[in-house]
Amino acid sequence: MKRHVIITIDGPAGSGKSSVAKMVAQRLGFAYLDSGAIYRAVALYLLQKGIPPDDEAQIEESLKGMNIHIKDLQRIYVNGNDVTMAIRSPQVDEVVSSYAALPVVRRRLFSLQRDLRDDRDLIAEGRDMGTVVFPDADLKIFLKADARTRAIRRWKELMERGVDISFDDVYYQIVQRDEKDANRKLSPLMPAEDAIILDTSELTLEEVVDKVTELIKDRVLQVKRCET
Ligand code: CDP
Ligand code: CDP
Ligand code: CDP
Repeated sequence: MKRHVIITIDGPAGSGKSSVAKMVAQRLGFAYLDSGAIYRAVALYLLQKGIPPDDEAQIEESLKGMNIHIKDLQRIYVNGNDVTMAIRSPQVDEVVSSYAALPVVRRRLFSLQRDLRDDRDLIAEGRDMGTVVFPDADLKIFLKADARTRAIRRWKELMERGVDISFDDVYYQIVQRDEKDANRKLSPLMPAEDAIILDTSELTLEEVVDKVTELIKDRVLQVKRCET
């Protein structure tokens, strides 16, 4: 039986995870999981229901009525509604980390992610892909970049989408979110012990994509050699 390869890419907001994972997956013909999108979908759902992050009992109850579906690993649906764009709003940015810190939320999303592993070669991207969800991944990459660089990247993106927000607000939000993600008890943002750490501050997107593609190719060759 052919064994499927799992690659994880973790890192803070704006380090380049999604863009890199998406492009590399396309190049190599791997499937791509954006785990942050699922946490964003939960945050949007609870935000719309008006349930605050400190009401764990109500969140648990409410999540029973939430059905998440990822179509072709690209579009994300909640109870039949396409929320792919709606989950990228600054309102969701602001609250997502508070919901993502809750055990009840993480427990609910764990198997959803885990179950994707068996039937395809996968690049999974997020905060705890290498540490918690896929601890036995074939290759773990941790992207980082200084906070200012990451905020500039995110701000440019928001400007291009016509979102009216100041650079200072974007910077503040990113720093706040990193702090919450890195300091929570459950699945905090940190590199896995066996992760390769790549600082992308001075690198273009293309340079990172080339580097990650090379790392994966080397690793996949090793895996295949072990199999034969
Ligand atoms: O793209 P960006 O880096 O802004 O964030 P994202 O990957 O869409 O993730 C949004 C939020 O979801 C993060 O700030 C985390 O709070 C949470 N998240 C998580 O807790 N675990 C993951 N594996 C992925 C995201
Ligand atoms: O997923 P994450 O929040 O880690 O970052 P992203 O959404 O992939 O990247 C944020 C923005 O930074 C995108 O517009 C990328 O094109 C850009 N980027 C960059 O300019 N240089 C890099 N080395 C990586 C990403
Ligand atoms: O949605 P589609 O069948 O086109 O493609 P897929 O994303 O490859 O998903 C295959 C199956 O896994 C679907 O039937 C989804 O319901 C399920 N799935 C899931 O339950 N949770 C996910 N995070 C992704 C997919």
